[in-house]
This record gives sequence, structure tokens and C-alpha cells, in this order.
Amino acid sequence: MLNNQRILITGGTGSFGQKFIELAFHTYPQIKEAVIFSRNPEKQEAMKRRFPHVPLRFICGDMAHPEEVEKACENVDIIIHTAALRIVPDAEVDPWGAVETNVIGAHNLIQGAVKHDVKQILALSTDMASLVNNTYGATKMLSDKLFIAAHRQYPSLKTSVIRYGNMFGSAGTVIPFFLKKAKEDGVLPVTDIKMTRFMATLEECVHIAFQVLQNSIGGEIIAPKIKSYNIMTVAQAVDSHAKIEIVGLRPGEKLYEEMVTRYNSFHTIEAQDAYIIIPPYGDKEVFCRHYSARPVEIGFEFNSENNPNKMTVEDIQSLIRAIQ
Ligand SMILES: NC(=O)c1ccc[n+]([C@@H]2O[C@H](COP(=O)([O-])OP(=O)(O)OC[C@H]3O[C@@H](n4cnc5c(N)ncnc54)[C@H](OP(=O)(O)O)[C@@H]3O)[C@@H](O)[C@H]2O)c1
Repeated sequence: MLNNQRILITGGTGSFGQKFIELAFHTYPQIKEAVIFSRNPEKQEAMKRRFPHVPLRFICGDMAHPEEVEKACENVDIIIHTAALRIVPDAEVDPWGAVETNVIGAHNLIQGAVKHDVKQILALSTDMASLVNNTYGATKMLSDKLFIAAHRQYPSLKTSVIRYGNMFGSAGTVIPFFLKKAKEDGVLPVTDIKMTRFMATLEECVHIAFQVLQNSIGGEIIAPKIKSYNIMTVAQAVDSHAKIEIVGLRPGEKLYEEMVTRYNSFHTIEAQDAYIIIPPYGDKEVFCRHYSARPVEIGFEFNSENNPNKMTVEDIQSLIRAIQ
């Protein structure tokens, strides 16, 4: 599917982007070229050194600058859009920065893609975009809306969105933080003992992206059936003797995350590995046939709390072993 294609990865120097490059060139060795678009030249230099034998081309630019984004779309077949301002507290402090990168950036990318006859955009999103209560989620929700609308506006451009939970292995996730705290002072700060989150490894996230690139119709949001964890299970897995300090929810934080809300349930179908939220202009029967799926019940929700697929202490400990 990616063989013989020229691909653009916005935010290619990020956690997902680098894992994508690693696995994509392994799985599809005939990829013609991957363009990496991001702002920081030092991160690009480091990535060049990490992948010396892979046909990568680096462009320094900002998603907020239309002419730079447009240039990156030249001679590209498929775009994987990962660039984002994604740290929740940062977006609360600098909402306009989040709008510029996440919303205006998405618009610039669609315009650049249309101008250069790009065939497909796969945009990465987050469970925080589904029932919004923080700036990051709000900007990603608008970004999702732009990509969903784009497939109707420009039918020759296939666009789809994946909603992920936490990516294990990406910067700023709870397990490395707890490991550090357990070592430093044996105190684990827990926001609330009922807190749950979705989680998948970066490798799982990339494989989901391959499937969606291969399989999507256009205009849909994919909510993969990934596992979730309770924060106390993570604490126990990291250090069952550590002291737990309850610190309360930070601004913009939720007790649990939602992939599919009851409002989505009217136009959501269930396939084997994922829920698919079909676009407002989509034909439910066509999507059901394509995905061998069936509509969910009205009022259905898929969130990190009601998810039957919860991580155990052993699951988390095996992830910890993999990074140590
Ligand atoms: N990591 C997670 O746990 C998680 C969970 C759910 C969804 N997601 C989504 O998955 C995607 C990838 O996440 P990630 O963990 O790989 O993020 P990351 O490690 O923070 O990487 C972000 C990338 O975007 C680039 N970037 C940021 N602002 C930019 C701008 N204005 N213009 C150009 N490039 C910019 C960064 O490079 P420079 O700073 O050098 O520009 C970097 O390459 C994001 O869309 C995120 O919303 C992530």
C-alpha cells in the first residue's frame, strides 16, 4: 500500500512519526521517499543520524505557515498528519498556539494537498477530541471536522482520522513518570483513584495506521478497540510499596476518556477491531458492508471506564520490562 509511494509525515520527528518511519520502511521497503516536516532542525539532524539508509527528505517549516506546508505537499501521494501541539497544560496556557498548529495547520495541509493532487491524508487524533473539555481536545475536534469535511469537498482526496488514547513510549506518559518518581522518593502522585485512560504501544498505533491507510473509505473516524488502564493498576505495577499521594485533577483533565460518545452512537458502527464513526454525509449501509460491521445501539458509549479490555498489573509490568 505504501510501496512505490511518496509520503509526507508532518511532525515526523515526533514519537509516532519516528516509529512510523521505522516500521513503514520495514513493512513497505519500496516506499520511494518520506518527507519529514517539522520545525526544529536539531531534531531533524538527530533523525537523519538515526535512519542513515532510508530515503528521507527533511523540510523545516511550521504548520501555521501556508506556503511552507504547501511546499511540503509537492510530489507527495499520501500524507500522515501527526504534527500537533499536544501537551494539555501547554494548550491551556497558549490556546492560540494550539489553534495555529492544530486547526490552521490542518486547514493549510488540506489546501496544500488539494493543490498538489495528494491522494490521501490520514490524520491522527485523540480521545480528548470526542467530549471536549480542554483546549487541546477542542482544537483536535476542529481539526477532525476539517478532515471529515474535506473528503466531501474534494472527493478525489481521501481523508480519515484515527482516535488514539495514550501512546505508550511517547514523551510525557504516566509510566516513565511513575518509574522516575518511584526511584526518586517513592511517592506516586495520583489524580484520582478512579481515573482510567486508553493506552496502546507506539508499535500498535502504527499498525492501526497501516490498516486504516489500506482500508478506509474516506470521511470516517476510526476508534480502535484498544485497552485501557486504571491509574491504581499502573501504580501497583510500578511499585506496590510506593506511597500514593492524591493530587486531584489538573485543569482540563477528565476522570475517564471517551472514544465514542452517546452523541456519536447515531452514526457509529462496530467492526471486529474498531468502532467507526461515519461522516454525516456517509451511507451507513455502505460503511457496514465495507467494514463487515453493524450499527451500535443508540446511547452506546465506548470509554476508558466501560471498556471491558482493561490492562492488568502483569500487562503493565511487561511494558515496563520492554523499556528498561
Ligand atoms: N502521544 C500520545 O500519547 C498521543 C495520544 C493520542 C493522540 N496523539 C496524537 O498523535 C500525534 C503524534 O503524537 P506524538 O506523540 O508523536 O507527538 P510529539 O512527539 O509531540 O511530536 C509532535 C511533532 O509535531 C511537530 N510539530 C509540533 N508543532 C508543529 C508545528 N507548528 N509545525 C510543524 N511541526 C510541528 C514536532 O516537531 P517540532 O517541535 O520540531 O516542530 C514533532 O515532530 C499528534 O497529532 C497527537 O495529537 C498522541
